[in-house]
Amino acid sequence: MSSLYLPLSLNFEPRHLVISTWMDHLPFGYDLVAALRPSCVVELGTYSGLSFFTFCQSMIENDVEGIAYAIDTWEGDEHTGNYGDSIFRQVDDHARDYYRGISYLLRMRFSEAANQFDKESIDLLHIDGLHTYDAVREDFETWYPKVKPGGIVLFHDIEARMPGFGVRKFWQELSGINTCFAFTHGYGLGVLKKPGGSRPLSKLESLLFEGDEETRSNLRKLYVHVGRHIDAMRRVRKQEA
Ligand SMILES: C[S@@+](CC[C@H](N)C(=O)[O-])C[C@H]1O[C@@H](n2cnc3c(N)ncnc32)[C@H](O)[C@@H]1O
Repeated sequence: MSSLYLPLSLNFEPRHLVISTWMDHLPFGYDLVAALRPSCVVELGTYSGLSFFTFCQSMIENDVEGIAYAIDTWEGDEHTGNYGDSIFRQVDDHARDYYRGISYLLRMRFSEAANQFDKESIDLLHIDGLHTYDAVREDFETWYPKVKPGGIVLFHDIEARMPGFGVRKFWQELSGINTCFAFTHGYGLGVLKKPGGSRPLSKLESLLFEGDEETRSNLRKLYVHVGRHIDAMRRVRKQEA
């Protein structure tokens, strides 16, 4: 990498650990929030809250003054399957216990929530709802106008190849015509930067979007490594407890 980049997430101790395929991307999610310092984060698809509470924890630990909105019916969809009310209650309890005043849970369909957000008001949008091609495309087309110029859109599951999953195809279309970076480990995480805005790029963003191929490849390897490091540290702490 062109100059030393030490991710803050090397010291990240996730407070809310639940089983989710988002596990592989926790360190990057944590660092991205610290780097962007978003005033407004919106997540489409929260389920048991692994990605959402990573964003929230980073906001608190890195003194980011913003609000994070989690939008979900908390009923499930054709890929997660339907699940019971206990998932919502656990997420709601955790949000109240640790992120009161900075996190808001909007229990409704994405399309119902959309009119609550103004054009160009969101700094960080995470799209992780139903993963069919048509659903992801609709989520992106509805919500992209609400992202600020220079804002970031994350897409989870860009490498998932299960039947009925279409994020990969949609991401391939988008990444050909936008400023993008793709993490390919786990089920993949796409990072898209909306053009415009006058905010200076953080170190992390310049590595993501301005780095040469070697820099980008090293960044991918680094985040695989940090994920393993966090997991190893968690096991050590558990043994010591
Ligand atoms: C893949 S899960 C989210 C995973 C989560 N981000 C994590 O970190 O584990 C997708 C969620 O999106 C929700 N969902 C799917 N389509 C939706 C829609 N149109 N409106 C509201 N919620 C939706 C489902 O209820 C489900 O909880």
